[in-house]
Amino acid sequence: MKKTIALSKGLHGQLDLPGDKSISHRALILASLAQGRSPISNLLGAADPSSTRRCLGRLGVQFHEDAATVLVHGNGLHGLRAPNVDLDCGNSGTTMRLLAGVLAGQPFVTRLFGDESLNTRPMGRIVDPLSEMGARIEASSKRTAPLLIEGKRPLKSITHQPPTPSAQVKSAVLLAGLFADGETVVREPLLTRDHTERMLGVAPTWNGGMHSVAIQGGRTILPQQYEIPGDVSSAAFFVVAAAVIPRSQILLKNVGVNPSRTHFLSILQNHGAKILEQNKRVVCGEPIADVLVTSAELRGPIHLRQQDVPLMIDEIPSVAVCALLGACEFEVRGAEELRAKESDRISSMVKNLKVLGVKVEEYTDGFAFGNKNQLIGGEIDPQGDHRIAMAFAIAGLKIPGVSILGPQCTNISFPGFWECIQKSAY
Ligand code: S3P
Repeated sequence: MKKTIALSKGLHGQLDLPGDKSISHRALILASLAQGRSPISNLLGAADPSSTRRCLGRLGVQFHEDAATVLVHGNGLHGLRAPNVDLDCGNSGTTMRLLAGVLAGQPFVTRLFGDESLNTRPMGRIVDPLSEMGARIEASSKRTAPLLIEGKRPLKSITHQPPTPSAQVKSAVLLAGLFADGETVVREPLLTRDHTERMLGVAPTWNGGMHSVAIQGGRTILPQQYEIPGDVSSAAFFVVAAAVIPRSQILLKNVGVNPSRTHFLSILQNHGAKILEQNKRVVCGEPIADVLVTSAELRGPIHLRQQDVPLMIDEIPSVAVCALLGACEFEVRGAEELRAKESDRISSMVKNLKVLGVKVEEYTDGFAFGNKNQLIGGEIDPQGDHRIAMAFAIAGLKIPGVSILGPQCTNISFPGFWECIQKSAY
């Protein structure tokens, strides 16, 4: 299947974004570890959090759903039970890595596997700290899934500094820390998304050039009501479209604007994009705003460096497309981590930018292009990577003749993406 994108004269109106993917995973997991009922509203109903929910169901957690809410019947910190099947994490790295943290502390053995993409992604980064804590974990010879996890209770508390900045690794260690015999600490020089810490009510401290977050083993998780904000990483596609397609003005409602997620907005604002955060408030410990984007002339060049990368890891494809459509020179370096995502995003971006006639340079740690490109339409192959598909769909609003192969992969994180385009682009 393929989808041809219609040119747009501008975006207008307002959009409600689906629930935040990262927060949805965490709400499902923490509600499952609480003793009692936690209603979750605006839970993202996409494939990735559905993988987390399915796995938790296999571990004995019950869910009830009505139109607006998913009610989680948590079994308490020690209430999960051994699954009688292997757990399928689908395409979702967050499911696999965060659940591995929980499963490291269970008194049973679990096997986790994923789809073709997930089974090639690096898992050594969680295997190392969780093994140091006392779990026994078997991975493939390339240190990828499937993973066999023989949990231990109590785990040994550790202090861990992930060699590659990663909120998934940080969260896996913190979740395992709930089952450890003391205080588990994660240190990171750059603050990656901090939703787990916020939900656990443990604020990071800043000391000696490091953010440190500590979790006490054995503490109970209370059931609570969760309201999931709109996903700022999904909003990014519409921010970009409205920023660079002339005569656009769009209001993105109820978007999560946690500072650990909004670096890309600051980068775009610094290059001339007109983006305003209005009606700011805090819901369930997360800052939320309505984001108003009006088209404006962008000023290049946009250069992203190593220190920018962890702060906008999911938005680099859309920011690159923003630079392209805004006729700005673009370069990202220090971003090898992009090769370990749902696809090798450096190679996916480079290949597909070339399809659109862009003269692009590929580096091991990034890519670059200039501000003078003769853009042409063409067939984009995102190779099942949702963010690549959506970033190039936005390119197709301004470049005639762009089509996207396998457009249904957007359901990984953004069900309704194509309807939102149809609704807002005229
Ligand atoms: C996520 C963290 C990031 C991000 C992913 C979601 C999370 O991954 O790319 O989409 O929810 O913690 P890394 O931790 O691998 O950087």
